[in-house]
Amino acid sequence: MTVFSPATAADREVRTPLPVLGRDVSVPLVTGGEVTYAALDYAASAPALQRVWDDVAAYAPYYGSVHRGAGYLSQLSTDLFEQSRATVAEFLGCRPDDEVIFTRSTTDSLNLLAAALPAGTQIFVFETEHHASLLPWARGEDARVTWLPAPRTPEQAVAQLDVALHGAPKGPKLVCVTGASNVTGEIWPVRKLAAAAHRHGARIVLDAAQLVPHHAVDIAALDVDWVAFSGHKLYAPFGAGVLAGRPDWLREAEPYLAGGGATRKVTRTADGGLDVVWHEAVAARHEAGSPNVIGAYAIASACRALSEAGFDRLVARERQLLAELREGLAALPEVRVLSLFGADSARVGVLSFVVQGWNSSHFAAALSAEYGIGVRDGLFCAHPLVRTLLDSEPDEPGECGAPDAAPGERSLNAIRVSFGAGTPDEHIARFLAAVTTLVQDGARWNYRTENGRCVPARD
Ligand SMILES: Cc1ncc(COP(=O)(O)O)c(C=O)c1O
Repeated sequence: MTVFSPATAADREVRTPLPVLGRDVSVPLVTGGEVTYAALDYAASAPALQRVWDDVAAYAPYYGSVHRGAGYLSQLSTDLFEQSRATVAEFLGCRPDDEVIFTRSTTDSLNLLAAALPAGTQIFVFETEHHASLLPWARGEDARVTWLPAPRTPEQAVAQLDVALHGAPKGPKLVCVTGASNVTGEIWPVRKLAAAAHRHGARIVLDAAQLVPHHAVDIAALDVDWVAFSGHKLYAPFGAGVLAGRPDWLREAEPYLAGGGATRKVTRTADGGLDVVWHEAVAARHEAGSPNVIGAYAIASACRALSEAGFDRLVARERQLLAELREGLAALPEVRVLSLFGADSARVGVLSFVVQGWNSSHFAAALSAEYGIGVRDGLFCAHPLVRTLLDSEPDEPGECGAPDAAPGERSLNAIRVSFGAGTPDEHIARFLAAVTTLVQDGARWNYRTENGRCVPARD
């Protein structure tokens, strides 16, 4: 017997997506006709919230130079820029002495922190990280990076870090960890990793690129030292990012970029050189050049919109969609969902999979060309992690290196579907229907490789 319980007002509320740009965009199908585009690549770049776009449009006629001009619009823009900083600090639950620096992206934020480390800092990073949090640390000649192997449970991650830090020599140490994987969507045990880091006198930076769009992140409650994220994954696609957290290392470091805005005084010296006095204020010191005021304002607008929508509601809705997605894929024995921590782990709306008998690039191309569904294929800038999950050998190709593989060969890359606050239920249903048809009936079109990408053959 099926017991039907009508949706309550609260249930209906949970099922409503936030309005985003592009929700009515039609795209052509290779088989003829058009269909509304289903954007299921939020983990790469999420569409702008309509609210963010409207806020930016309302401000656009008034924008002017920040921290420079005497004019009315310059002062207004400077105020908005600084208010945006305060909004981000509030959104992240920053401690009173934390600083918010506007950057270009998560990659930029982590490179900024890497450039500001005290001499001799030892870095601890899991090999499972996105390249943005994997690579900035190993660049200097005296870089000391400990690469931790892929843990298979959250508890193992904490234990591995504990052991590595326990055996580390004295001196400054930094742990870098992701909040949610851009490959599996799995949520990492950030609070416990932070506790382990601090137990051993290390600091910790959280790569929150995939966590902030899906979850409330509270820097003080998580007790992490820094948080980095990107606006374009947080529904604010205007080329800005954030590094927020402890001021001391940043204040003592050389400015990330040398140039205007980072200086207090520049004079010629008697011997013909230059004497430069840099700002001690952390944000000014590391934000040289004309700042991206629209980008910062858009991030602040997104922070306000998500806070007002309420993360409890957004998380509840995303869980429903994720459960439907996982259930639909589980019904297809040909589909293998990639996971590090196992089926029961907490996740955000990001999921990668391979399909038996299919090259992933071919599958993703068919989803786009025949169904108007945008996903991503490849190794997702987390090559070591995806190679581990696919059991591939170091000398095997990956990323776009496999589109020529004949159907039936093992795929050397994966397909990623990701969604968020703007995704209608219908997009998940459409995706599942398309995957099922492709798995059961195959593609209706021929595909070939052009410039490393799998595309529909036109002749
Ligand atoms: C977990 C994670 N960290 C960092 C980044 C880098 O972000 P960006 O390209 O905006 O610098 C990404 C992008 O996909 C990511 O998923």
